[in-house]
Amino acid sequence: MVLSAYAWGAIAGGSVIAIGGLKYYFNGGKNKHWPDLAGKTIIITGANVGLGFISAVEMSKLKPEKIIMACRSEQRATDAIAAIQKQVPGAPLEWIPLDLNDLASVKQFA
Ligand SMILES: NC(=O)c1ccc[n+]([C@@H]2O[C@H](COP(=O)([O-])OP(=O)(O)OC[C@H]3O[C@@H](n4cnc5c(N)ncnc54)[C@H](OP(=O)(O)O)[C@@H]3O)[C@@H](O)[C@H]2O)c1
Repeated sequence: MVLSAYAWGAIAGGSVIAIGGLKYYFNGGKNKHWPDLAGKTIIITGANVGLGFISAVEMSKLKPEKIIMACRSEQRATDAIAAIQKQVPGAPLEWIPLDLNDLASVKQFA
């Protein structure tokens, strides 16, 4: 069977749309929820890595008053702050020590 140029065009177009759709799906789509964080102070525990780090990056873009990085390691916290401020210049990040395994540290943080 010989396909017409029209059929090949439809197959190519369909493939491009399918690949685009799959890419969009596997990238997790787009966040359409952008709350106004103006004037708000946010505390993020474990903000130096993983989910906490990504939360700090994304919330920095929403221009809050301040984001407190509640982390137990000063080095890891300051490295994370530098990395975030590279992506979001002027991000208002501050490290306050917090070790959740240590009640004295939790009291001090509070
Ligand atoms: N990542 C996932 O796909 C996923 C999926 C479902 C649920 N979760 C859960 O979501 C949470 C965060 O995940 P994640 O991937 O972001 O974890 P992660 O990469 O392991 O990060 C954990 C964060 O918590 C901090 N932390 C650990 N113990 C602490 C303590 N005693 N005091 C203060 N900070 C402490 C770590 O600090 P240090 O760097 O100093 O160790 C780090 O910043 C975990 O509970 C995980 O089980 C994750």
